[in-house]
Amino acid sequence: MAPWLIQILIISSLHLISPSSQQETRFVYENFSSQENLYLDKSAKVLPSGLLQLTSASDHQIGHAFYKKPIQFSSSGPVSFSTHFVCAMVPRKGIEGGGHGMAFVVSPSTDFSHAESTRYLGIFNVSKNGYPSSDVLAVELDTIWNPDFEDIDKNHVGIDVHSPLSVGIASASYYSDIKRKNESINLLSGKPIQVWVEYEDTLLNVSMAPLEVEKPSRPLLSQLINLTEVFPNSSSLFVGFSAATGTATSYQYVLSWSFCTSKGSLQSLDLSRLPDVPPPRAEHKNLYQLAIVLLGFVATMGLGVLIGVYLFRKCKYAEVTEPWEKEFGAHRFSYKSLYKATKGFSKDGFLGKGGFGEVYKGTLMLSREIAVKRMSYNGDEGVKQFVSEVVSMRCLKHRNLVPLLGYCRRKHELLLVSEYMPNGSLDEHLFDDQRPVLSWPQRLVILKGIASALSYLHTGADQVVLHRDIKSSNIMLDGEFNGRLGDFGMARFHDHGGYAYPTGAVGTLGYIAPEVIDMVASTGTDVYAFGVFMLEVTCGRRPVEPQLQCEKRLLIKWVCECWKRDSLLDAVDPRLGDEFLQEEVEMVMKLGLLCSSTVPESRPTMEQVVLYLNNSLPLPDVSPYTVGVSSHSSVLIDAASLVASSSWSASSIASSLVDNSASKE
Ligand SMILES: *[C@@H]1O[C@H](CO)[C@@H](O)[C@H](O)[C@H]1NC(C)=O
Ligand SMILES: *[C@@H]1O[C@H](CO)[C@@H](O)[C@H](O)[C@H]1NC(C)=O
Ligand SMILES: *[C@@H]1O[C@H](CO)[C@@H](O)[C@H](O)[C@H]1NC(C)=O
Ligand SMILES: *[C@@H]1O[C@H](CO)[C@@H](O)[C@H](O)[C@H]1NC(C)=O
Ligand SMILES: *[C@@H]1O[C@H](CO)[C@@H](O)[C@H](O)[C@H]1NC(C)=O
Ligand SMILES: *[C@@H]1O[C@H](CO)[C@@H](O)[C@H](O)[C@H]1NC(C)=O
Repeated sequence: MAPWLIQILIISSLHLISPSSQQETRFVYENFSSQENLYLDKSAKVLPSGLLQLTSASDHQIGHAFYKKPIQFSSSGPVSFSTHFVCAMVPRKGIEGGGHGMAFVVSPSTDFSHAESTRYLGIFNVSKNGYPSSDVLAVELDTIWNPDFEDIDKNHVGIDVHSPLSVGIASASYYSDIKRKNESINLLSGKPIQVWVEYEDTLLNVSMAPLEVEKPSRPLLSQLINLTEVFPNSSSLFVGFSAATGTATSYQYVLSWSFCTSKGSLQSLDLSRLPDVPPPRAEHKNLYQLAIVLLGFVATMGLGVLIGVYLFRKCKYAEVTEPWEKEFGAHRFSYKSLYKATKGFSKDGFLGKGGFGEVYKGTLMLSREIAVKRMSYNGDEGVKQFVSEVVSMRCLKHRNLVPLLGYCRRKHELLLVSEYMPNGSLDEHLFDDQRPVLSWPQRLVILKGIASALSYLHTGADQVVLHRDIKSSNIMLDGEFNGRLGDFGMARFHDHGGYAYPTGAVGTLGYIAPEVIDMVASTGTDVYAFGVFMLEVTCGRRPVEPQLQCEKRLLIKWVCECWKRDSLLDAVDPRLGDEFLQEEVEMVMKLGLLCSSTVPESRPTMEQVVLYLNNSLPLPDVSPYTVGVSSHSSVLIDAASLVASSSWSASSIASSLVDNSASKE
């Protein structure tokens, strides 16, 4: 068997030995794992490593650890004892110094309820100096310099009898047999320190040494003490340790402890098996760690929220962009900017519901006011063409067109951005009795403006642009009540947009030229619609009013009837009173009828209409009996009676129109 194994076996078998004889008490704690016969008090505890921790580095702590059984000192024979222990004091990291210290204690009692922490080391109290404060003999390892206790420094060893005022004191050091001189020991180094306390023949010797050094040949302290005089009435005494902290703190440990009442039988400690002393810890480190963990948590949460917000916003402002759109980039608005401009398409900015979508007012940067139309669409068919048309329409410049600024595209949603028209759409002014009446000169200016815009679209631009949906609700009024044609070209999009309109059959009932039913859209269909529009503006009523009596229901027909009766002025908007020039009004009405002729060939071009309106060209000879002027589409009459009682719904009428035309074929 290996010698070390034998040694371990011996130590293991002897680690707790009851008095072998009646006088002798002998025990060894290689570590304190078993806690057998150990009395722990206050903050003292045994750590899982077997380390006896008297105090942690918290303030104002007291820790006691005593061997439970009192030591019987023979009253007759010579009193002696011998002990060897390993201790360590670990101050907090980053804190200079530590406190307060620990002591090996011999006392007739383990009751230290009167004792105090700090410099009283958990065994003494503030009793006046000189008076016994406790019935105790202590060997203190003091790490605080207390001048009132006549301490010599803050790193000393003292022998205390009944009082913190040491009877013997020396700086912590050991005599090195090799170097033949005293070597100082730093009690607060955190490293294990060996201490020997021996008493025999009224002489108390205290020695100490670092772990790697043998017991010095010369004791650090050698003090004459008659233990029988110190404890006159006690033959049984407890031995153990006490430690305390104050505002200065350290972890104070006992690693290993051997005790014997006779010097020769003291069990040596196996210093190779000592429990580990935890390295200096910064008390604040925990706080730091906590703070860091908390910070990390908060940061993570914050990041999560940010990511959430980012994703939410990304989704909220999501747009659809395709490579082909790059060339139109300059005309594209970001959804976010439109969202912000319209304050999230709030109700406050809601301008109205047009044929193709809802319109909102918004304010871009530099307080530029815009109108944003949101249109939903299904599928991607035709979108590219639509966008390219929108962009090309952006190049159309005419003072009677609502300037188109750009577009934005999202999934199932197209947004058109145009300039904001402060006076809204014309139909509001024509049909809303709450609003002031538009005077005849104003109406004429509007008609001339729109005619000029249409003429520009048909002939002035690079390519022929058809409006396809001329009606009072698509005519906007700017600040000076100039008519501005809006929504031009929009109808085309809805050819492709998944609406119920068949190709070509686009527009609004009453404005749709009869030949549109034969699927032909041309400048002529725009002229037809403009003709109806002229009548609408002059007469102040919608082209079809199902609730009116039969002869008046269709505006064209009614105007024609009046003309036949030679009383055209009967059809004029009564709200105009007689504040108009009769010739002008009659000319406009006749021109309107001419434009809305059922015979496309007899309609004038928009260029001609402009000339007529400006009196630059006299009206051709027309009468209510001219072919095309008087004969009106039976389809419209049918359609009008279809919606006689229902609400105004363009799409349902359109589809019924389609049904009609289909059944005709
Ligand atoms: C404590 O000491 C005993 C022997 O006395 C030993 O068996 C045990 O492993 C030690 N415990 C620790 C944690 O070192
Ligand atoms: C100090 O301790 C002693 C007993 O050890 C006790 O009788 C005395 O009252 C204590 N003094 C104070 C001030 O607590
Ligand atoms: C060493 O310390 C002891 C006890 O403090 C003292 O008596 C002795 O004179 C010192 N020796 C030297 C060489 O300093
Ligand atoms: C104490 O130390 C002195 C030498 O300084 C020595 O003669 C004496 O035997 C020692 N006493 C004990 C109990 O070790
Ligand atoms: C110790 O004190 C006791 C009682 O005062 C006395 O009987 C004894 O002789 C003393 N011992 C020594 C060695 O002086
Ligand atoms: C010890 O006992 C004696 C009498 O036996 C008594 O006079 C004395 O006061 C006691 N001392 C203490 C400290 O209790």
